[in-house]
Amino acid sequence: MHVETGVRLDTLSTLGVPSSADYFCRVTSDSDWLEALDYATNHDLPLTILGGGSNVILGDQIRGIVVHPVGDDIELIEQTGKSVLIEVLAGAHWDWLVRYCNQRGWYGLENLVSIPGSCGAAPVQNVGAYGVEIAEFIDSVRVLDLHTSMFAHIQGQDCGFTYRDSHFKGPWRDRYAIVSIRLRLSKVPMVNTNYAALANALVATGLHEPSPLDVLNTVAAIRAAKLPDVHLMPNSGSFFKNPIVSISQAQSLKAQYPDLPLYDVDAQNSKLSAAYLIETAGLKGYCGDGCGISQQHALVLVNEGHASGAACVELAQHVINTVQAKFGVTLHIEPVVIGL
Ligand code: EPU
Repeated sequence: MHVETGVRLDTLSTLGVPSSADYFCRVTSDSDWLEALDYATNHDLPLTILGGGSNVILGDQIRGIVVHPVGDDIELIEQTGKSVLIEVLAGAHWDWLVRYCNQRGWYGLENLVSIPGSCGAAPVQNVGAYGVEIAEFIDSVRVLDLHTSMFAHIQGQDCGFTYRDSHFKGPWRDRYAIVSIRLRLSKVPMVNTNYAALANALVATGLHEPSPLDVLNTVAAIRAAKLPDVHLMPNSGSFFKNPIVSISQAQSLKAQYPDLPLYDVDAQNSKLSAAYLIETAGLKGYCGDGCGISQQHALVLVNEGHASGAACVELAQHVINTVQAKFGVTLHIEPVVIGL
């Protein structure tokens, strides 16, 4: 473990905003993690963990030490005739893991293909797409307790997973570093085609009994067509969560806007499409200071080349205010803001 000073982070977030860290190190092993934590404690530095950088907005200067997990070791912990339990390091790329597991005949993650970011970050916001959330497959999360320097396994059911959220994003944000994750996957081919857009795309390509690989390829194609390519137009995916409102508010909005997409949540609440609200408020393609709302998908804030993290947050606030004024609905941003 080697600590560097004054390290540029511009290429370490998919939003590509200019940023630098006072101190920076990469960690792979348990001893690296402990050394990094010791360094922070001994030098009285705040510690920030930066994974794949696909769900963060960075300020110009990150004070203290930025710890970047790397490494893609996978361990097969146990297997039965029907399932496997695997443990993968936090630094592994999520999309690589999804494709690797499918190739090995370990099924379940196919709908989550092409999501940028690292395995350690995936449980933090409970990554979800096309009708599947990672929470369904998390057996446990191995963490380093930053208060006690002890490693522990936290069971999936204790992580507080809800839509785009977990305790790691809330009360545990400064408490635990995710070192690795354990996933339980099926050895029996299984597919989830409940999401309407996915089901329609499969049928349109004549795949009436799709294999897990068919689902993986179809989701990858839908995403490539719908979402701006992070390499061509830096972005952090969905910038806003789909807002959850009372069923009565959802119904009164639906009466005014009949094509507003609604998703069931529970007996009291409905989820609205943030993209629809933003587009209907006239903000799709809106330009801010070096950043804007994507022409391709209204949920995505794109960095057109020279935006600061602060400018992205300012644009997001403009979107929130405009949607609030038009629909009376409060949008919440999805990325984690660091150093602003
Ligand atoms: N829509 C618009 N304008 C747009 C785009 C979409 O009005 O520019 C409306 C359309 O009516 C469309 C509906 O929004 O039918 C839903 O769009 P989409 O299927 O893209 O889903 P989403 O609710 O906007 C969520 C996730 C995505 C995930 C998709 C598919 C959130 C915040 N976002 O988007 O996640 O890929 O569902 O499951 O829940 C990400 O996390 O980076 C991400 C892209």
